[in-house]
Amino acid sequence: MFEAKFSPAAERNKEVILSVLRDVLPRSGDVLEIASGTGQHILHFAKALPNLRWLPSEPDESYRVPLHNIIEQAGLSNVADPTDLDVLEAWPDITVNAVIVANLLHISPFATVQGLLAGAARVLVPGGILHIYGPFKAAGEFTSPSNEAFDASLRARNELWGIRDLEEVTLVAIEQGLQCISIKPMPANNFSLVYKKTS
Ligand SMILES: C[S@@+](CC[C@H](N)C(=O)[O-])C[C@H]1O[C@@H](n2cnc3c(N)ncnc32)[C@H](O)[C@@H]1O
Repeated sequence: MFEAKFSPAAERNKEVILSVLRDVLPRSGDVLEIASGTGQHILHFAKALPNLRWLPSEPDESYRVPLHNIIEQAGLSNVADPTDLDVLEAWPDITVNAVIVANLLHISPFATVQGLLAGAARVLVPGGILHIYGPFKAAGEFTSPSNEAFDASLRARNELWGIRDLEEVTLVAIEQGLQCISIKPMPANNFSLVYKKTS
């Protein structure tokens, strides 16, 4: 037996994220998930969208080992074994139709924004989709008092962490050849950001 990790937040938001993915992902192809964490998202998405092949990744071994076990136990033929991918390091030499990530950019230094967008732009096929989910500031403002308090608690844990400005993320995306397709407010003061590789 192994102990799977569990995130109550992932359980709450997996269905609303899926509702966006249903609209923006291609009908078939490969989807790379960055920062798969507990695996709750990717298993939920893979069951709901079986025509896509799902590629989890996670740099933290303490997450990746239980992630490997939970994926093996689920026995889904459309989910690969997780790879060790840190967006600040070398990305695998692969091509995918979509890259998805949830709740990474506020719990990491700003360099992670650059690493994520540059790496996604490199592995995506032309027309490929990047979906980012998480809390963001809009026009430099927190969207709720609770997000402002959350930002302060993140910065107290690590001064390089913090809630990013969605316009800043989009500027980096444009520099990398990723066009912003939609920015959608989501429940619990989160956003869904969708970018498309233009060429
Ligand atoms: C708050 S958890 C989110 C996990 C999952 N995506 C979710 O929404 O439940 C943050 C995750 O980001 C991962 N992470 C942190 N820095 C990273 C990096 N540089 N590259 C890739 N993943 C990273 C952590 O290992 C952790 O799994």
